[in-house]
Amino acid sequence: MSPQPQTAVGAPLSRVDGRLKVTGKALFAAEFDVEGVVHAVIVDASIGRGRITSLDTRAALAHPGVLRVISHRDAPKLPYLDNPGSNNPPGRRLRVFQDDLVLFHGQPVAVVIATTLEAAQHGAGLVEVAYEAEQVSTDLTKGEPDAPTLYARGDAEAGLRDAAVRLDVTYRMARNHHNALEPHATIARWDGDKLTVWDKTQWIVGTQTELSTVFDLPMASVRVINPFVGGGFGSASRSWPHTVVAALAARETGRPVKLVLSRRQQYFGTGYRPAYEYRLRVGSDRKGRLAAMAHEMEHETSSYEKFFDGIMTAGQMLYSMPNVSQAYRTVPLDVNTPLWMRGPGFANSSFVIESALDELAHKLGVDPIELRRRNEPNEDPASGLPFSTRRLRECYTVGAREFGWHRRNPKPRSTRDGDWLIGRGMAAGVYDGGRFQSEARARLDADGTAVVESATSDMGPGTYTSQTQVAADALGLTMRTVTVRMGDSLYPPTPPHGGSLTMASVGSAVLDACNKVRRQAIELAVGDEGSPLYGVPAGEVVVRGGRLHAKKDPARGETYQRLLARNNRTHLAADGIFTPPPWGQDPLSVYVYNATFAEVAVDARLGLVRVRRMLGVYDAGRIISPKLADSQALGGMVGGIGQALLEHTVTDHRDGRIVNANLADYLVPVNADITDLKAIYLDGDDQQADPLGVKGLGELVLIGVAPAIANAVFNATGRRIRELPITAEALL
Ligand code: MOS
Repeated sequence: MSPQPQTAVGAPLSRVDGRLKVTGKALFAAEFDVEGVVHAVIVDASIGRGRITSLDTRAALAHPGVLRVISHRDAPKLPYLDNPGSNNPPGRRLRVFQDDLVLFHGQPVAVVIATTLEAAQHGAGLVEVAYEAEQVSTDLTKGEPDAPTLYARGDAEAGLRDAAVRLDVTYRMARNHHNALEPHATIARWDGDKLTVWDKTQWIVGTQTELSTVFDLPMASVRVINPFVGGGFGSASRSWPHTVVAALAARETGRPVKLVLSRRQQYFGTGYRPAYEYRLRVGSDRKGRLAAMAHEMEHETSSYEKFFDGIMTAGQMLYSMPNVSQAYRTVPLDVNTPLWMRGPGFANSSFVIESALDELAHKLGVDPIELRRRNEPNEDPASGLPFSTRRLRECYTVGAREFGWHRRNPKPRSTRDGDWLIGRGMAAGVYDGGRFQSEARARLDADGTAVVESATSDMGPGTYTSQTQVAADALGLTMRTVTVRMGDSLYPPTPPHGGSLTMASVGSAVLDACNKVRRQAIELAVGDEGSPLYGVPAGEVVVRGGRLHAKKDPARGETYQRLLARNNRTHLAADGIFTPPPWGQDPLSVYVYNATFAEVAVDARLGLVRVRRMLGVYDAGRIISPKLADSQALGGMVGGIGQALLEHTVTDHRDGRIVNANLADYLVPVNADITDLKAIYLDGDDQQADPLGVKGLGELVLIGVAPAIANAVFNATGRRIRELPITAEALL
């Protein structure tokens, strides 16, 4: 087939769903108008560990409007079949209302269902729960770690022993919560033994699988609908107990039930980026060539599930060195289970590795970029595989030039602007080029419009738009004549909408489906005596604006409408699929990279840190949608500023209560924190990664931000802060 002209892909288009969103017509999970819906509010445990000794529902049931209270006292036993899929970590997932045990502060202990939200909320306050509380263990530094997951190549201890220059540094990173704008929410409705949920989820198929295993239903009996997600950052990439609570409440009351977690409940009803402690030992020669790194990392997990973050990869493959050891331990605590948060694992490992490299550069008197260049591998140091593309050197060159790196004074505390100490820092970032099997289908109708369907969600990156761009070019249609439908388990299955894998994976399935439809149309035309294209080799036909024509003779052609009408075809349709190499069998090393630069100003007397400007340079493969990529990149930098300077979920270790479970006390960057952010893409076409040439962007853009800022803070002040967030107190 002749390659199609690319007019939509790569164009800086606005969101196709922008109008729907700003007019409130884009419906989020809790906004669906389901007839007869009643409201559920969860009663959450006010102890961090122990047993429920009594649970009195009389006052709640007496409240007008309250229909039912469900707790472990009367909940039916639920099948809870094993489900290693759905991103459930190894362990035994929390089973709602199945026993009297409390495993963490905020665990659901009952649900109140009422005809109005207000009645349910009031009723929840009237449920009297008594507990037998035990001492909680929620402090990472005091927990007992699980057996480690190990990695080794070479001999890290020997490499460190023999190294001319050594570092031994320990970093701490606070727990962070995703805090998406849209709260987690579920509406559940039973029609006989069929269950429909409108559920905030980043993985339609994952939620469908979870509900089918919890209730022991055939997959086909569970429908999950979620066309729009108001931010996720990973928090909705697995299913949480409240979704089961909503479905259970609906079944028990025989009414559709809506359950929206309050902002406070998001902090223990869903996951979070776990708190970390990370010791890194580094050895190099006097020129900064790395000889060894030894990583010892720990983070919290729950007592019932062992959550794994993407923490090990970067230390194995970002830099060339013969000796690496890693010991990764989870520490079970009386907390709910953590989950991936944007740049999962990599955002933490990059903070450590990139801060340590900055420390090493300073110690050696080598420029931080030059130090990184000296350790740049030519093939994947962990697997030995060739890179599909790795353009980190170019990221450094472009970034240094655009940022004005040469103007940085490497001597700490050497640049002032009045009361402010000015510093500049940089860091590298890496993230998986994840690709998973995906399916999609495309249908071209006789009126010359097309519909493309896949089950994926769109949590905000602009997936509707980017998939429309891919489909429009592959079908030779305009953006306006293609409709993309997503977020429904009736559509072809897709992987989690996360891990930066949607564009490469779902996009490639959409491309495949649309290529097949276009091919069908071309075959139909060139074999049709009534077509002006009759007899033209199929490989020489392209489609533009819904019109097929000979590539060499654009006057010779006809529209899809004419072709389909003459052949009495109501439509042409095809299923598309993208199948990457199985996990671990990729013949190439596929990762995305960045170089991130930050300039900060630190108030010399108050310790306040202000980010004055940031630049990210990204090697993310082909950029489908430059305008939306900018939204991703700037949003990622904002998230990274949060991780670096503000975000910190604080737990009271006496009882396991999260004390800042609200957006007033949990600090996130606001407009006043954000000034000059700029993103540059090395717009490549990585055909070895996937047919679209896309690698992935969404996670990458947060990675490297925190260390770039921390390194800039060091350059500004001479103070090396090894703990996130970097607070004014730490700098005083
Ligand atoms: Mo991303 S942390 O997989 O939403």
